[in-house]
Amino acid sequence: MINTKENTFKQAMGRFPSGVVIVTTVDNEGKKCGFTASAFTSLSLDPPLILVCLANSADCYQSFVSTDKFAVNVIGNQQHELAFKFATKGAEKFGGDEFVTGESGLPIVSKCIFSLECNAKHTYPGGDHEILVGEVIHANVHEGSPSIWYEGNFRELKPI
Ligand SMILES: Cc1cc2nc3c(=O)[nH]c(=O)nc-3n(C[C@H](O)[C@H](O)[C@H](O)COP(=O)(O)O)c2cc1C
Repeated sequence: MINTKENTFKQAMGRFPSGVVIVTTVDNEGKKCGFTASAFTSLSLDPPLILVCLANSADCYQSFVSTDKFAVNVIGNQQHELAFKFATKGAEKFGGDEFVTGESGLPIVSKCIFSLECNAKHTYPGGDHEILVGEVIHANVHEGSPSIWYEGNFRELKPI
């Protein structure tokens, strides 16, 4: 493999373990949309803010930059297939029975590790991605073990 600057960066970031989230919203026409993301982090405790980064090339880009709320669902070991579905362009993403309606009216994953329903507060450009900042208005926490994304594969979290 020829190590250009770009693929060395990708290779390096692939060695940074992360959780995986499914981000959902309902667009202005009432259509549900969503995508899988690893670029998710907490930003502020007071107010409670989180951020997630969305590629400018995503089909759901316009829906997320114009929505007033979105939800972040942290997936566990039972939701790998769902995560791949939400990472597939053109897939029928909400066809299954994995979703319930959260207090905000957004679709949330019923058996995930936790869901955060957010008011969309800010968007910032970040290279070829947009940084979506949300203020958490509802949090739903469940039992289970979160999935880890590392070097292009899901891993299980195990005690030392
Ligand atoms: C584990 C994993 C992590 C991903 N992380 C991100 C991410 O942080 N941001 C992003 O924009 N796309 C990410 N993607 C890719 C999107 O999920 C994928 O391109 C999705 O189809 C985009 O939405 P669209 O179908 O509306 O185009 C990730 C995919 C996988 C499998």
